[in-house]
Amino acid sequence: MCGIAGIALKSGEVGPIIYECLKRLEYRGYDSVGEAAVINGKIVVKKDKGKIDEVESKLKISSLPALVGIGHTRWATHGAPSAENAHPHTDCKGTVAVVHNGIIENFMQLRQELENTGHTFKSRTDSEVVAHLVEEYLKTENEFVDAVRKAVKRLIGAYALALISTTAPEQIICVRKESPLVLGTSKTGNYCASDIPAFLPMTNQIILLEDDELAVLTADRISIRRVDDGELIVREPFSVNWNVETAVKTGYAHFMLKEIHEQPASLRDAIRTHPIYMDLMALTLNKAKKIFLIACGTSYHASLAAAYLFANLARVQVTPVVASEFIDNYAALIDPDTVVLAISQSGETADTLSAVRSARDRGATILGISNSIGSTLTRLSDVYIGQNSGPEMGVAATKTFTAQVTVLTKIVLALARKRQALRTTELEALESGIAQLPDWISETLLQEETVKRIAEKYGENASFCYLGRGINVATALEGRLKLLELSYLPAIAYPAGESKHGFISVIEDGYPVVFVAPKDETHSKIIGNVMEMKARGAKIISIVDWDDEEIPKLSDEVIRLPPGIPAALSPAAYIVPLQFLAYYIAVRKGYDPDFPRNLAKSVTVH
Ligand code: F6R
Repeated sequence: MCGIAGIALKSGEVGPIIYECLKRLEYRGYDSVGEAAVINGKIVVKKDKGKIDEVESKLKISSLPALVGIGHTRWATHGAPSAENAHPHTDCKGTVAVVHNGIIENFMQLRQELENTGHTFKSRTDSEVVAHLVEEYLKTENEFVDAVRKAVKRLIGAYALALISTTAPEQIICVRKESPLVLGTSKTGNYCASDIPAFLPMTNQIILLEDDELAVLTADRISIRRVDDGELIVREPFSVNWNVETAVKTGYAHFMLKEIHEQPASLRDAIRTHPIYMDLMALTLNKAKKIFLIACGTSYHASLAAAYLFANLARVQVTPVVASEFIDNYAALIDPDTVVLAISQSGETADTLSAVRSARDRGATILGISNSIGSTLTRLSDVYIGQNSGPEMGVAATKTFTAQVTVLTKIVLALARKRQALRTTELEALESGIAQLPDWISETLLQEETVKRIAEKYGENASFCYLGRGINVATALEGRLKLLELSYLPAIAYPAGESKHGFISVIEDGYPVVFVAPKDETHSKIIGNVMEMKARGAKIISIVDWDDEEIPKLSDEVIRLPPGIPAALSPAAYIVPLQFLAYYIAVRKGYDPDFPRNLAKSVTVH
């Protein structure tokens, strides 16, 4: 997730206004920043690694004496944070500058093709190919807009783009496909940005750009066309009555709620990881004699779900370990045949990093999954993959879990393919299931009101219990973690089968027990567990498949998930109602779910 902005003014200087827009987009990314404009017939780019204010005091990026310009605040996905990888990117001759939010899936092929025809690349980003492609098409097209249209037709992936060129210095061309981009219009100029808050102080007159549409912005005109055939589209502006603060949360009361709702989009980004990195990881894992998954908190729960998949899909045994326990328990086993796959949203969690460092010192190969490319974890890793879910502002991890379990599932499938552990039809069914997951999560989000009602009804209970079996023990543990960290309730989570070995003594009339119970191979056993709890007076809250007939009959509350979700992919969807439950119970209690007490987003102490 990055933030982009483009502004065409009738008078004044664009640099400081882009700078203000980028400040309001900083929540979308903050590892590097840049601005560009055409000044005296040349493209001038000011950019560097660092937060917006740091780069501003170093380079004065806001000083761009021009009427038209573009800007970008970055959250690295391809290429670590650095001055070269910061946007805007330019072509070889310096005729085009581009800012991009999204992921260009076929950038490697395009880059190879462009390098073969003599283009020289300056960065490791996927985005730079756009500048060179447009440069290439400017050789045959007279109009900047036609060159952009031709270039965009070559792109596969997700993109919100804004481009400027010395060939049409009064224009900004912006394009959208599956990444957010909105337009703003006013008497003094026109705007494009990833989000409305960027330009809200200048105008509340908004025009939406749809997928596969392109807009040409000048100071006094916005014209929208279809990318496909260039046909003009007439679209009227509408006004919004937001203030900047609510607009940053796009109308949601808290970042956490926004981030729960963002999951279909963040998952689409997570899924887009280039297959080459998956293959590289699978290759390394396939050679390993011992594999450990290490992580903390939510990332650890994602690794628990992954351990189940490694065993059941790739037929490989892996050991998931809480990072702080790793060295004390397993130091004696680590050697050069060991692979440690570390999972950390921040990439800076002290416990995870010290486990990684100790394993490295003993000769292990380190693989990393992180949301923060350029973080210490990615620098310590021999191979790393971005979970690509964008900045998470709520302290409680939400979109982190869904992105991590899905990226891990893709790694497992790459390994299963290499080891021929699954039939091709099984592999293909799971791969197409992953592609459908964002839609299933969108449908699951529709259960929000049902969960809110359950939170209202049971929110005063002193404790909750979460039970699951198989892969969804991980989901139950993660649901419990959300509730206890936000509502400060001493909640319990167990493998459902284990609950009768002690925990069941806690159950009394009215105690809420949440069952994560998709119709997988554990279904008949979990029915038994539901009955055990019900017989002792528990209130049963069940999360089940859309057509489950048995568990709902035993339940006091039922949350149904959409049809078709394969059991192996169930944690990413089944966690969503549990995120809502924790959120609404915390809000009901008057707590701020974005800032739970005693917790930090990144735990950098042991
Ligand atoms: C839970 C939560 C924490 C983190 C844990 C690991 O909502 O946010 O439990 O999951 O501190 O953090 P990362 O993944 O950054 O290593």
